[in-house]
Amino acid sequence: MQNDHEFNYTKADFAKVVDLIYRRAGIRLNESKQQMVYSRLARRLRALQYDTFSGYLRWLEQNPDSEEWQQFINALTTNLTSFFRESHHFDLLAEQMQRSASHPFRIWCAASSTGEEPYSLAMTAIEAFNLAKPPVEIIASDLDTNVLRTAAQGIYSIDKLEKLSLERKRNFFLKGNKNNAGKVMAKKALRDLLEFQQINLLDDRWPLSGKFDAVFCRNVMIYFDQATQKIILEKIGRLLKEDGLLYVGHSENLHFMSDYYRSFGKTTYQLSDKAKAIWSKP
Ligand SMILES: C[S@@+](CC[C@H](N)C(=O)[O-])C[C@H]1O[C@@H](n2cnc3c(N)ncnc32)[C@H](O)[C@@H]1O
Repeated sequence: MQNDHEFNYTKADFAKVVDLIYRRAGIRLNESKQQMVYSRLARRLRALQYDTFSGYLRWLEQNPDSEEWQQFINALTTNLTSFFRESHHFDLLAEQMQRSASHPFRIWCAASSTGEEPYSLAMTAIEAFNLAKPPVEIIASDLDTNVLRTAAQGIYSIDKLEKLSLERKRNFFLKGNKNNAGKVMAKKALRDLLEFQQINLLDDRWPLSGKFDAVFCRNVMIYFDQATQKIILEKIGRLLKEDGLLYVGHSENLHFMSDYYRSFGKTTYQLSDKAKAIWSKP
């Protein structure tokens, strides 16, 4: 397999990568990802001057605390996202904010990738409250440190804003010039609403306190198997306020957790009475 390529890459190497990323991040890679794994990790082998995948993978296994693990994870995550992706959720969130008595209204964006999703949440908050400083707190997290860095900078190529209205572009972004020509930066009013941190959804403990009015956990559970999803969804349930809402991605559903989550329509969920009785206890 791939031995006409720069590095020796066998089926056993791919199987090892599948096992390692599953154990570290819960991500399931299927057979169709063999070529993707090769090209993404070949960069790491080149950077570290390894000749073979087996040598690199053996070294990783022998050094469980090495910083290279983060690079390995960053190389294998899929970070596709966009501003106001699945836009109906932002309309629903605006309504949820307007009828909520929570001050501050707290949101956790649990797989925030390069930041387009949490910045869309911040824009929604400013518009829903019609205030420059709405009473809203947004924690945005991801496992991948590269995407978190991009998100915290809030700088994007201008074409990423293509689908935004002119009003949103003007209200929420600054256009770069000279060295930053072709780029835009999220305005301070948006950035002030956001706090970024690294959280691995697979970890036993998440560094979060208090409960949330809304949890956005979109387009990440598709990478996990059902046993992992169950564990994560139970922990999210414990973090949701009784009237909180969980927003998931378009191809994700919680049918297998129907005792605990009730559909609120359009891939959003509320806690069931049973879940409230068990999970909402202080
Ligand atoms: C496809 S993106 C989805 C981004 C955004 N939520 C959206 O819907 O547009 C999936 C994100 O999940 C993150 N991710 C994958 N495994 C994770 C884990 N175990 N814990 C936290 N984030 C994870 C990836 O780094 C990636 O940024």
